[in-house]
Amino acid sequence: MNYEEIHKPVLLKEVLYYLNLKKGDIVFEGTLGGAGHTVEIIEAIAPTGKIIGVDLDSKAISTATIRLKKFLSNLFLINDCFANISGILRGLNIGSINGFFLDLGLSSIQIENSGRGFSYMRNEKLDMRFDPRSELDACDVVNNYTEKKLKEIIYKYGEERWSSRISKNIVSHRSLKKITHTGELVEIIKESIPAQYRSIRKGHPAKRVFQALRIEVNRELDNLDKALEDGFELLKSCGRMVIISYHSLEDRIVKRKFRKFSGRCICPSDFPVCKCGAEKKAKIITKKVVKPSLDEIRENPRSRSARLRVLEKL
Ligand SMILES: C[S@@+](CC[C@H](N)C(=O)[O-])C[C@H]1O[C@@H](n2cnc3c(N)ncnc32)[C@H](O)[C@@H]1O
Repeated sequence: MNYEEIHKPVLLKEVLYYLNLKKGDIVFEGTLGGAGHTVEIIEAIAPTGKIIGVDLDSKAISTATIRLKKFLSNLFLINDCFANISGILRGLNIGSINGFFLDLGLSSIQIENSGRGFSYMRNEKLDMRFDPRSELDACDVVNNYTEKKLKEIIYKYGEERWSSRISKNIVSHRSLKKITHTGELVEIIKESIPAQYRSIRKGHPAKRVFQALRIEVNRELDNLDKALEDGFELLKSCGRMVIISYHSLEDRIVKRKFRKFSGRCICPSDFPVCKCGAEKKAKIITKKVVKPSLDEIRENPRSRSARLRVLEKL
């Protein structure tokens, strides 16, 4: 199977509609994946427009290079983190952009074929790095973090109510033998959740812990926060940011950041004076978050949790 058969781009029509591109525009696409969205974005800006397509995973860059070979004059394909947008654009001598697009998380091909332990349905090495060059992997986190730190990330990034029991069990298992594979971790998680809760729970019992480990390993929330701040600075007037997120932690960051750019204070309600520096520099285009239609979810069940938000710079 090739990439197009494995990964279907999510909310494709909506992304194109909301990016509102015209011929000659410059677009920063920070999550290239297999270029599912890119091929359509190019059509909108060609022949003179440019896309800066970025991905942390070098395999995504090589897949996209093959898929996009007839558009190479419209493309810069870069193996880097989207949070480095300022440095990337500086290196290309590009001062500003018309569109900024992120389709967060991971591609179906990374789940199905990467062998990097992203899925709790397969027994693979515990890795979970988008970028195999980075130092920290899931095996380090699971085997070296203190019980307290493990509990903290599983609770904070996985919103897992059984984080205490799970981290305690991880620590007790690893004192006997290093935990190296996803299958072992899944068993530890299952035995940590009381049986009566396991059966009534939505989704796989390991889903939340896997999400937490992936976020920690790839510093996903920090990178998103920085990319939105720096990306916004580089947007031209009337340029748009279109972001698809897949879980509430990401969506919360996007929502808060968009509120701040649109001049609404995001300080905690008990702050006597505003400290966030919110100043009206943009308008929110999607008053309500955009979700995939039932037809799209039927055709592509992985789109189910997608949430799209759009902002336009004044
Ligand atoms: C959901 S996929 C994108 C799929 C793509 N839109 C398509 O339709 O083919 C997300 C991609 O973003 C990449 N990614 C995640 N975090 C990243 C980051 N901080 N910087 C660059 N790429 C990142 C992943 O490696 C993955 O390839």
